[in-house]
Amino acid sequence: MQDVSNAALPPKWKNLIVAARSARAHAYAPYSEFAVGAAVLTKAGDIFAGCNVENASYGLTICAERTAACAAIAAGQRDLVAVCISLIGTPVPCGACRQFLNEFNPSMTVLLDNPNTSADTEPECVLLSELLPRGFRLER
Ligand code: THU
Repeated sequence: MQDVSNAALPPKWKNLIVAARSARAHAYAPYSEFAVGAAVLTKAGDIFAGCNVENASYGLTICAERTAACAAIAAGQRDLVAVCISLIGTPVPCGACRQFLNEFNPSMTVLLDNPNTSADTEPECVLLSELLPRGFRLER
């Protein structure tokens, strides 16, 4: 687990970042070799983590954000307050994950974490609605 020692970050964000970074270590990415970790914070205050899980049939790959969200849903927690994405590079959720997360809270907070940055660097913090304006909802 990597340290997140920036004192300015609220504890709930710190824990979320630590969970995303830890989950990244479990990424199953033998094809892309691109490890991604994610963690969601629920309204109840619980954190659920996930990592990308690839497949020999490439299109079956599941992104880290979706495995984290599914872990929360499977535990009966659908109120997602925030998500942290942790990867070395430019940490943003892909379009499919934006839509997937939009299902549960279009205005959730999204923390974009690069675990290679120094502990003093706060991850960029955006709203899902900024990343996915006019996300699709099945409203008749
Ligand atoms: N990936 C994620 O886990 N989340 C994203 O938002 C973008 C991409 C994964 C899928 C695949 O295993 C690897 O990154 C390379 O695309």
